[in-house]
Amino acid sequence: MESQTPERVTTPSLSNDDATYDTKLRPSAFPEFVGQENLKDNLRIFIQAAKQRDEPLDHCLFYGPPGLGKTTLAHIIATEMGTELISTSGPVIERAYDLTGILTNLKRGDILFIDEIHRLQHVVEEYLYPAMEEFSVDIVLDKGPSARTVKLNLEQFTLVGATTRAGLLTSPLRSRFGVAQRLNYYDPDELARIVRRSARILAVPIDDAGALEIAKRSRGTPRIANRLLRRIRDFAEVVGDGRVTAPVAHESLLRLEVDERGLDEMDRRIMEAVIHRFAGGPVGIKSLAVAVGEESETIEEIYEPFLIQEGLLKRTSRGREATPAAHEYFGARSAPREQGKLL
Ligand SMILES: Nc1ncnc2c1ncn2[C@@H]1O[C@H](COP(=O)(O)OP(=O)(O)OP(=O)(O)O)[C@@H](O)[C@H]1O
Ligand SMILES: [Mg+2]
Repeated sequence: MESQTPERVTTPSLSNDDATYDTKLRPSAFPEFVGQENLKDNLRIFIQAAKQRDEPLDHCLFYGPPGLGKTTLAHIIATEMGTELISTSGPVIERAYDLTGILTNLKRGDILFIDEIHRLQHVVEEYLYPAMEEFSVDIVLDKGPSARTVKLNLEQFTLVGATTRAGLLTSPLRSRFGVAQRLNYYDPDELARIVRRSARILAVPIDDAGALEIAKRSRGTPRIANRLLRRIRDFAEVVGDGRVTAPVAHESLLRLEVDERGLDEMDRRIMEAVIHRFAGGPVGIKSLAVAVGEESETIEEIYEPFLIQEGLLKRTSRGREATPAAHEYFGARSAPREQGKLL
């Protein structure tokens, strides 16, 4: 049946291991979902209002960099609304017909979650418009001269779309979401709370300073914080006494080539290319991609937003430029592996 489409299509930043732990560590209700306070407050109100009116929630769009909690929110909404979540993703819906089965099986109030919604085929997207607006779809019965179109009514459902590339959504699709919320990078205190929660679930002994050290070096991203916690746990168990403290976290992160700001190897390759190979920029995304050996989409989706938020990279009409802060940071320091001493 069409509704049994894969749970998710992996993004370049998501390993199988990440996917397993994403599920294991995923908060299942608002109180466990740390940070994004504004968004949470808004959603809570929309959910409560919909419940009071006994109506399904309006369609919601979540956008922002990978690993910040978009899929998690879709699950939480279904839990809060007391309805089912049916999960699919833009690239796996090849034809409009693939959607008919999913849509007609939805019960009132169900959440249809479409991940990577910016990657929907154009025809599929157009097929969704009446489904979102009037809760109906047209299907073609019969073939040849006797073919006719029949309107099928659907139950009122809630579409939750997620995308890392809101800029690639067409405006007709975007305008059909009553709620559109951006997820922002998390601050170190919030990430430290997430790390402590995950450590509890995984039964990893950790102190507050250890959690904060991981938090500060996780690119503002819960998924990365959880990933680093798992790797540091390995170091702590094998080389140390099993406890994750600030020094253990620090030494492990040096070995993992994650620097004090949380920049990883590809972040540094990008910044060093802009600074040294392109004399600080401006450089076009395509040339930069070739220079660092990474897809330009991946750079735009995963690396660039964080480097911009960190004040290291600037996007101008002529291309990407290194900021004075980047010149200072990358000029003044050697590679982290040369600074580290072993555990
Ligand atoms: N606010 C949060 N509080 C606690 N944990 C969180 C939070 N947001 C995300 N996480 C953790 O990070 C993991 C990744 O989040 P999620 O899968 O929701 O990200 P996403 O935005 O859907 O990413 P992608 O764009 O790659 O699909 C979750 O499984 C969860 O463990
Ligand atoms: Mg997701």
